[in-house]
Amino acid sequence: MQDLRINEQRLWDTLMEMGEIGGTEKGGCNRLAGTDLDKQSRDIFVAWCKACGCEISIDKIGNIFARRPGLNNDLPAVGTGSHLDTQPTGGKFDGVFGVLSGVEVLRTLHENNIETPTPMEFSVWTNEEGSRFQPAMQGSGTYVGRFDLETELNKTDVNGIRLGDELARIGYLGDMELGSRNMGAFFEAHIEQGPILEDEKKAIGIVRLGQGIRWYNIEVVGRPSHSGTTPMHLRKDAMLAAAAIVTEMKAIADRHENGLGTVGFMQVWPNSRNTIPGNVKFSADLRNPRPDVLLTMHEELLAFAEKIAEEHGLDVNIDPFWYFAPVEFNASDDVKAATEKLGYSHMDIYAGAGHDACYMADLVPTGMIFTPCLNGISHNEAEYSSPEECAAGANVLLHTMLEASERIAKQHQA
Ligand code: GLV
Ligand code: MN
Ligand code: MN
Repeated sequence: MQDLRINEQRLWDTLMEMGEIGGTEKGGCNRLAGTDLDKQSRDIFVAWCKACGCEISIDKIGNIFARRPGLNNDLPAVGTGSHLDTQPTGGKFDGVFGVLSGVEVLRTLHENNIETPTPMEFSVWTNEEGSRFQPAMQGSGTYVGRFDLETELNKTDVNGIRLGDELARIGYLGDMELGSRNMGAFFEAHIEQGPILEDEKKAIGIVRLGQGIRWYNIEVVGRPSHSGTTPMHLRKDAMLAAAAIVTEMKAIADRHENGLGTVGFMQVWPNSRNTIPGNVKFSADLRNPRPDVLLTMHEELLAFAEKIAEEHGLDVNIDPFWYFAPVEFNASDDVKAATEKLGYSHMDIYAGAGHDACYMADLVPTGMIFTPCLNGISHNEAEYSSPEECAAGANVLLHTMLEASERIAKQHQA
């Protein structure tokens, strides 16, 4: 078992095959949650898992679980998984690497006829990206009970299409109860999506923490009027107020160590060049690894919005609809032990992005494995992680899962 390794070429070929579904001209992927392309990627995952003898279950928010039996199927499974949905200009690796590392672990166990002490479970989580439907990590968050199922199924995209309808349409609105898998540990492999491992020349990141995230929907309600006839001092220009808030997002981030602030989505109404904007809707994303600092950033944003509303004589409505508290991964030492056993260079790191593992940590001991990605670029079609880098991460996943399976079986014997 010590010498067992995944097949690097097969993992790479599988990543490239998946990358063709929604593949973009620039070599990335556009595979939004709940689309036909999402269906295609799910179908191929299910086919690959079935070919290795897995039983497939789909829960009420469309998460997929493929279970490979173990020696004792009453024992809780060791789980792994990530997401197959991407950003509109996403890459081939974000999320996909974690899911397909799982498939590669599964294939490695299958072809070597390895009987693990516990079952092993391979999952795909619905809408991790939070691009088409909000928030991010919607499938895992609903699975662990952080979000209400009906509320999430009723969420709509910018065209008013419901998530629940899309899941039903693509055949992935299942009936398995949320939170009902018998799982004893969960591990997610993921590209780092940042530059640190590459810079430090480390093969593996042992992820200790997922940083906190706060998401907002902001609406500025001004007054549409003629751009040629309304004097500047008599306007209620929603765009000017929105622009001030966008600029303040950077100022808030800059005032706090490790602070991050982003506005990535905006709708302007009526969106006509000679009408002063009457209404601007936009997103805001604040992040920090420390909950107290993130709270201060949040308070600063609210206070600034109030000030701007007063100054411009218009309304600023803020809906702080998602708070994701920083999470500590309590099974990181399992990842570290496997990494050291395999002889890969490594360092401790924290996750800047949200991940399904962050929510799974609510339910079971959880760990994450990071691998480097070229120039730290992610959420970009140029995202790249080499075959060797991917193989290292998948090997660590394999051995972390094997160790955890042994441990769970021993704990249940004792
Ligand atoms: C989700 O992956 C996020 O970090 O926004
Ligand atoms: Mn991801
Ligand atoms: Mn992502």
